[in-house]
Amino acid sequence: DKAGYKHFMAKEIAEQPTVLADALRAYLDGNTIVLPDTLPDFAKIDRLTMVACGTAFYACLTAKYWFEQLAQLPVEVDIASEFRYREPPITARTVALFVSQSGETADTLAALRYCKGKADSIVSVVNVAESSIARESDVALPIHAGVEVGVASTKAFTCQLNTLLLLALHAAVQRGVMSHDELADKLGELRALPGLFNVALDRDPTMADAAHKIAEARDVLFLGRGLMYPLALEGALKLKEISYIHAEAYASGELKHGPIALIDKNVPVIVMAPRDALFEKTVSNMQEVMARGGKVCLITDAAGAEAAGADVWRTVILPAVDPILSPLLYALPAQLIAYHAAIAKGTDVDQPRNLAKSVTVE
Ligand code: M6R
Repeated sequence: DKAGYKHFMAKEIAEQPTVLADALRAYLDGNTIVLPDTLPDFAKIDRLTMVACGTAFYACLTAKYWFEQLAQLPVEVDIASEFRYREPPITARTVALFVSQSGETADTLAALRYCKGKADSIVSVVNVAESSIARESDVALPIHAGVEVGVASTKAFTCQLNTLLLLALHAAVQRGVMSHDELADKLGELRALPGLFNVALDRDPTMADAAHKIAEARDVLFLGRGLMYPLALEGALKLKEISYIHAEAYASGELKHGPIALIDKNVPVIVMAPRDALFEKTVSNMQEVMARGGKVCLITDAAGAEAAGADVWRTVILPAVDPILSPLLYALPAQLIAYHAAIAKGTDVDQPRNLAKSVTVE
């Protein structure tokens, strides 16, 4: 039931603060991350290979930054349909990790079967605990998102990120790269996240206003750097999926290697950039866009908005957050801009044309 919301998607976006708080609690005992004993020892492996499709793939791309930076673990991320036929070499000191909301995605399941008997172990991160992918894994970690009805994945994405971040933090401690005090700090930040989500949800009118303008465009570009690059990809997927507007995402640094040729006054450019270590770099890309008449919609925090100057077309201000956690918070504007653009276009938000919730054929 939609609990009074017009669409399942709106409900699933709005319930994220509660769902995320519960999903976090499910894995914590005080400042200890509680994970199954059957998980591999991350200190004894050389590589993590992550495989998924669609939004789950973007969750993996995000987690790559976390596992590399926090746990100093080399990570490879691939799309399941490419991975399975490329048949890449998998060493015995590799953990193979599969992420899937439904746990039934045909390509992801085939990629998992390919890794059996080759990898050290098969781990999955799923929403449906009794799914094929969960059953065929050595260890299945539930994301605790609850049933997700909307075809566009929203709360499952943030709950995938939550589980993957906890796993990266666990690996960081196990590999001796992070102290217990540092872990306690990060968990404290994670506990505060649902509150920040609520503040961000209150900014919905600004996002709706930008989205109504964006809905008039034929093409939209998303830009982000570092942890914001996978979020840009997710924002573009959400927008094209439910509003049918052509959207593309690029790592900001790639702008001058091609996509800048697209920029004119008709192409809104959504820039996702909290004021972090990479902010100045992104701002300079943003200025290149504005110098060519591009309309920038900047999604940032208060410090970022101030530093960006007055020429920005639209600004969405989110609360400041520990840089490691920014992907979870910045998922919200990615979802809400797509949602409001779809409303403006009058499309079927929960059941977009040509798409199915679970892709069980390749
Ligand atoms: O059930 P899965 O997580 O394996 O599904 C993967 C993709 O099909 C899915 O994330 C798809 O991209 C969503 N519709 C995106 O919103």
